Amino acid sequence: MGVLDGKAAVVTGAGRGIGRGHCVHLAQAGAGVVVNDIDRAEAEKVVSELKGGGARAVAIAADIGSRAGAEELIELCCKEFGAIDIIVNNAGIVRDRSFLKMSDEEFNDVMRIHVGGTFWGSQAAARKMREQGSGGVIINTTSAAHMGNFGQVNYAGAKGAIASMTYTLALELARYGIRVNAISPSGSTRMSATYKGPDGKEVELPYIDPALNGPMVVFLCSDEGNYITGQVFGTGGDRIALLSQPRYGDTMLKPGGWTLEEIQLHFKSQLGNRLEPIGLMKRPYPFYDGVKPSAAKKR
Ligand SMILES: NC(=O)c1ccc[n+]([C@@H]2O[C@H](COP(=O)([O-])OP(=O)(O)OC[C@H]3O[C@@H](n4cnc5c(N)ncnc54)[C@H](O)[C@@H]3O)[C@@H](O)[C@H]2O)c1
Repeated sequence: MGVLDGKAAVVTGAGRGIGRGHCVHLAQAGAGVVVNDIDRAEAEKVVSELKGGGARAVAIAADIGSRAGAEELIELCCKEFGAIDIIVNNAGIVRDRSFLKMSDEEFNDVMRIHVGGTFWGSQAAARKMREQGSGGVIINTTSAAHMGNFGQVNYAGAKGAIASMTYTLALELARYGIRVNAISPSGSTRMSATYKGPDGKEVELPYIDPALNGPMVVFLCSDEGNYITGQVFGTGGDRIALLSQPRYGDTMLKPGGWTLEEIQLHFKSQLGNRLEPIGLMKRPYPFYDGVKPSAAKKR
C-alpha cells in the first residue's frame, strides 16, 4: 500500500534531474504519473523506467511555457488516470547574464517557463480539481536564488514570483480543498552544473542526488500533509528546512508620520545600523561606507 495509491500526478520538466526524482518517488508511493518534458526522448526514458518498476506512467512533450501546453497535460492526465490530484510545477531553464548585458529574450524566456509555466499549470490543474470536487495538491518550485544572486536577475525574479504566487494560491484555493506549497530544491543536475560563485566563476559543488527531494514532495501530497499549505521548504541532500517568509521587521513609529528632518535624525540609529544582508549567501551588509562606482568618473 502506497500513500498515493489511486492518485494521479503531473510533473513538468520531468525528463531528467529533480523532476525525474519526483516521478520515481510519486510512482513508488502508488500514483499514476504524467511525465512531461519538452525533450520527448528524456520523458520517454523516465516512463520506461517507471513502467519497469510496475508503475502507471505516460510521457508528453508539451511546452509548459504556454497555456495550450499546460491544458494538454491536464487533459492527458484525466484521460489516462481518470482525474488530476497533483501537479508539480518543476520545469525550468536558466539564461544567466549580468543585468546590464541581459537581453529581452533571456529575461522573457525565463519568465515564460518558470512564472508562466507555474501560472498556466496551476490554473489548468486547479480548474479541473474544482470541477472534480476532490481537492488536490500543487507543488511549485522556487530557489534560494530568489534571495538575490549575481547574474540571475531573470531567474531570481522568476523564483521570487513563484514564492509569492504560492502564498496567494494557498489563500485562494483552500476553499476548494487544494493545498499549495513550494520547494526550494537542491541536486546535482544539468542546471546546477551552470552555477557560478559571487565572482562570476563556475564553482565545483559536492554531488547531491537530485532524487532526494522526492520523499518530501510525496509527504506534502499525501493525506498526512493535509494541514500544510502556503509554505516553502528547502529540500534535497540531508536537510528539510522551513523557509522564513518575508515579514516587516524592526519598525520606526511616530504618530502622524515622519518628516524628512526626523528621518534624517533617527534613521541611522533605529534602522540604518541593522540593514539586511543581500543575496543568497547572506553575507553581512557590505555597503555601510556607501555604494560607490568602482571606477569613479568625473561628471
Ligand atoms: N538543481 C538545483 O540545485 C536546483 C536548485 C534550485 C531550484 N531548482 C529548480 O528545480 C527545477 C528542476 O531543475 P533541475 O536542476 O532538475 O534542471 P534540469 O535542467 O536538469 O531539468 C529541467 C527540465 O525541465 C525541462 N524543460 C525546460 N523547459 C521546459 C518547457 N518549456 N516545458 C517542459 N519542460 C521543460 C528540461 O528539458 C529539463 O529536462 C527547476 O525549476 C529549477 O529552477 C534546481
